[in-house]
Amino acid sequence: MPVLETSDVDIESRRALVSAAEELAAGGGLGDTVLADPSARLPRQLAERLSRTIRPPRPGAGYQVVRGLFAEFTDLGPTPLHWRETDRQRCAPLDIALVLVAAQLGRVFGWTDQQDGRIVHNIVPSPGCEELQIGSSSTTPLAWHTEDAFHPDRADLLLLACVRNPDGIGSRLSTVASAGLSERAVDLLLKPHVVILPDDSYEDDGAAQQEPIGMSTLWPRNDSLGLRYDPSYARLLTDDAAFRCAYEELGQALEEGSFVVPLSPGDLVIIDNDAAVHGRTAFEPRYDGTDRWLKRILVRSPQPRPGRERLEHGYEQQQVDAYHGSPVLPV
Ligand SMILES: [Fe+2]
Repeated sequence: MPVLETSDVDIESRRALVSAAEELAAGGGLGDTVLADPSARLPRQLAERLSRTIRPPRPGAGYQVVRGLFAEFTDLGPTPLHWRETDRQRCAPLDIALVLVAAQLGRVFGWTDQQDGRIVHNIVPSPGCEELQIGSSSTTPLAWHTEDAFHPDRADLLLLACVRNPDGIGSRLSTVASAGLSERAVDLLLKPHVVILPDDSYEDDGAAQQEPIGMSTLWPRNDSLGLRYDPSYARLLTDDAAFRCAYEELGQALEEGSFVVPLSPGDLVIIDNDAAVHGRTAFEPRYDGTDRWLKRILVRSPQPRPGRERLEHGYEQQQVDAYHGSPVLPV
């Protein structure tokens, strides 16, 4: 396992973050709406101090853990049984802090058809979802995936904040940089021979009716390679044995290079969604208010992607603009 990529924020900054977020929450703010109010921002000095530590992951690393950033937010109540049951007022200070921190990294957004268009997603195990390949599953491992791999406007930075994790369920990560793929496999995986469908967490089931548009699994990036991978929802558009072999080689390499990032309450992990895939080990849900609970935020920074992706329809899934609280019209 590689040395963990971690950083810490000093206690004064963490407490100042709590004060600023609590003040905004007391004024009626919520994590889902705070960015729509241009005056609701972190105090400038605090934002500057945080920006020294809270940065996109180091090139090649694929992730960065900021230890204990939100550890001072403690009054969050029991873990809900479903994301819809989250008490948004009670969570408002943490949600606001998370959104304002995320906004320092790029443009924060949600999806109209995911978690009712909310900006702050709650990842909790839910009865009936145990075996699915979505965040609310539990007893089945969550397979490798790029977050929202089906969409050309997917996040390139994925933020997960740990509220509660009593059994120490690790988040699994693996990066394309450490996969050590053969040159031949890389050449093949640059070809747009894969389609990826929206996962089951999206409400619109009309996606399968859309004409498939081939996607590249890899693309060249300044620091390494970009990666777009979600085999649970992927279909290969070619019977070419060499391509299928390369796709399998990638899966094996990601598995072999995988590692677990332990997350404790208050930790934030920033994942480079174009460099690393993530997953989760299986666990037994308790459904008693003490289950693992993560908050998730999607961020798009100016990191370039292949021009070809602009041809994609994205299965007509629309983004929610966190700054205006409205759907983003397709470009
Ligand atoms: Fe995910």
